[in-house]
Amino acid sequence: MPSKPIPMFLALLALILSFTSSVTALGTSCSVPLGAGTAAPGEPFWLQTIKHQGTAAFNPNPAGYQVFRNVKDFGARGDGVTDDTAAINNAISSGGRCGGGSCHSSTVTPALVYFPAGTYLVTSPIVPYYYTQLIGDARNLPTLLAAANFVGMAVIDADPYIPGGNGAQWYTNQNNFFRSVRNFVIDTRRMPAGASGTGIHWQVAQATSLMNIVFQLSTAAGNAHQGIWMENGSGGYMGDMVFNGGKFGMWVGNQQFTVRNVTMNNADTAIFGLWNWGWTFQGVTINNCRVGFDLSTGGVTQETQTVGAEAIIDAVVTNTPIFVRTSQPSNGRLGGSLVLNNIKLNNVPVAVGVVGGATVLSGGTTTITSWGQGNVYSGVNGNGAFTQGNIPTPNKPTPLLDSSGKIFGKTHPQYAAYSLSQIVSVKDHGARGDGTTDDTAALQAIFNQFSGCKIIFFDAGTYIVTSTLTIPAGTQMTGEAWTVIAGKGATFNNINNPVPVVRVGETNSQGLMEISDIVFSTVGPAPGAIVVEWNVKQPANQQGGAGMWDSHIRLGGAAGTNLERASCPSGSLNFNNCFAAFLALHITPQATAYLEGTWVWLADHDLDGDGSSQISIFSGRGIFSESAGPVWMIGTAEHHVLYQYNLVNAQNHYMGLIQTETPYYQPAPAAPAPFTSNTAFHDPTFTSSITSAWGLRIQSSSNIIVFGAGLYSFFQNYAQACLDSFNCQNQMANVDASSNIFTYSLSTVASTFQLSVSQNGVINQGANRDGFASTVTSWSS
Ligand SMILES: *[C@@H]1O[C@H](CO)[C@@H](O)[C@H](O)[C@H]1NC(C)=O
Ligand SMILES: *[C@@H]1O[C@H](CO)[C@@H](O)[C@H](O)[C@H]1NC(C)=O
Repeated sequence: MPSKPIPMFLALLALILSFTSSVTALGTSCSVPLGAGTAAPGEPFWLQTIKHQGTAAFNPNPAGYQVFRNVKDFGARGDGVTDDTAAINNAISSGGRCGGGSCHSSTVTPALVYFPAGTYLVTSPIVPYYYTQLIGDARNLPTLLAAANFVGMAVIDADPYIPGGNGAQWYTNQNNFFRSVRNFVIDTRRMPAGASGTGIHWQVAQATSLMNIVFQLSTAAGNAHQGIWMENGSGGYMGDMVFNGGKFGMWVGNQQFTVRNVTMNNADTAIFGLWNWGWTFQGVTINNCRVGFDLSTGGVTQETQTVGAEAIIDAVVTNTPIFVRTSQPSNGRLGGSLVLNNIKLNNVPVAVGVVGGATVLSGGTTTITSWGQGNVYSGVNGNGAFTQGNIPTPNKPTPLLDSSGKIFGKTHPQYAAYSLSQIVSVKDHGARGDGTTDDTAALQAIFNQFSGCKIIFFDAGTYIVTSTLTIPAGTQMTGEAWTVIAGKGATFNNINNPVPVVRVGETNSQGLMEISDIVFSTVGPAPGAIVVEWNVKQPANQQGGAGMWDSHIRLGGAAGTNLERASCPSGSLNFNNCFAAFLALHITPQATAYLEGTWVWLADHDLDGDGSSQISIFSGRGIFSESAGPVWMIGTAEHHVLYQYNLVNAQNHYMGLIQTETPYYQPAPAAPAPFTSNTAFHDPTFTSSITSAWGLRIQSSSNIIVFGAGLYSFFQNYAQACLDSFNCQNQMANVDASSNIFTYSLSTVASTFQLSVSQNGVINQGANRDGFASTVTSWSS
């Protein structure tokens, strides 16, 4: 696509700036660049005071349905004395929302439930219904205070067990999508030390996040409190949390998760791992605990699944007798792959040990550069060496690191320092977000007028665009309960001439870009849609200055997409009506990107209706990166036809943890059908033995660190017998003509080969069985 030349853009901006006097009348003035936040010390968070006009476009009653709910409007007092449980839960559940056990998922009842500063006393769990954001005042964190007589699983319970229901729950744990909890202090200290006072029961799946939460747990000796309790699910991202006290900071089991920037102080056990196929912890600080990571290990079959793969990068551990201990010794590969990278120990006598047994790696005051337990491979040698020792150290390019040498991280921006006058609402400036109106021109005008001068607030809704929407470099934008921007119509209909729905930055542009709480999507059929084309490069000296947080690409399976069970039931192979996209996310050569909590999902089932019926829809490609970096991907991509991740001529990428699934219908049709390999997009080609999507393809690239991957193939044409024979597909991850590629903690499900070089299978899964998945502890090119 031709790009708009920069001078023309500047001319347009100048033209718009000449209208600032009329804009000033609305309380905005775009002649002034945004600059620093100007909120006065006592001013509440802008999200509290902004006009609330978000809607759920496909709710049966959009005019009557309330997306934003302030718990105080529902009678919560926040005075630390009144029992606010009922008022808070009423704020969450009102409006016929999805919960209670009879509704398993829904996209038409989103809610942002807001807590002003205060102390909210609760006596039983706060239950966030499906598609809920619980958000506290980011300027003055509200406290959720469990009463001494609190009864229930946790202060926040994201998936309640139904009393007398024989283990039945409100939601299916692997489908418990679209949840976020932010900006709280959660305090269980009034509860008896011996009670299992728990902060959050977080049994969730993709498109979920926890962030900016402080857990205040009992510090009494022998207490039973815990910050997060999670028995299963399929996540997910969490980060920026502090845990004080408790028996466990986190007690967790889930297929896969990414955790960034957590601090555990004075817990008995900082993190207990029950089971997983792969977790990545990035940036962990542990102070004065008894054990850092306590891992249940030893299971090698699906039935005996324990912790399969734990990968920890950038930890600082102080005054803690044991950093990591496993419940069973790792006898040659008995479950429990472990990868440790850049671990600083201060007075930690045992770095890695076994419960009641040997010290595997002694500690002290020292740094562990790169250590692993499990099978280690390199190049085209298919024979792994079982290792409990040093493993290859990744080449860590400086652009990926912060000033202390850790992998750089950047918190989801919330603009807490900004005053209301520094925010503009798109609904105040002509955009409708009603799921039918063409909002392209209105949104483009808003960007052209306000980017760089205001934070742009996308009130909840579904904004339809019918031609490419360009978000200019310099934009900071944020949504409400996952505001949807969807491409629709003829422009996105030509499979031979794909067109971006949203272009993030003009080609070769440079500047700040922050996008949060947005879902990018299409209304089908859209065989020619490039859902997001990411062009922008971070400003010089502003690492992570171009990024996306809690923002997802969701294709089909939701009300209003036209790509649901009615038109595309599973197995229907109704290609023409069921194309969801050509390509989900394209990161172009000069772009940089920080992606945190980004789920790139082609729906495998309907989120509305019964919430479980499978559908057959078609999106060609997941994430395609040609970027020279730096790129940080703390995200996932699932179910696209040709590949989930394709890195071509890419450099300087950190990817952890990446999770993918192959489409359930493959190999009927066999990939790349119903698409064809397109050389202009550097697509892979397929052969008679490679008939399913690649989870990860790395071609002609260098300096790529994959620190945790879960690449799964669960089906062959909707049948699952191939799980038992471990061969739902032949190959899953391919590296070709590349250098300095480092892959750690790579778990795959039911792919005969876990890793291939030049499309020749190298690592057979048979040697690496590790519960439900097979795990390669380390492979380097
Ligand atoms: C999730 O955990 C609960 C509680 O342990 C258990 O009853 C349920 O079977 C688990 N579900 C899956 C899918 O593992
Ligand atoms: C880590 O989390 C803490 C607590 O939320 C926060 O203050 C800090 O800025 C975060 N650091 C990074 C690098 O994200």
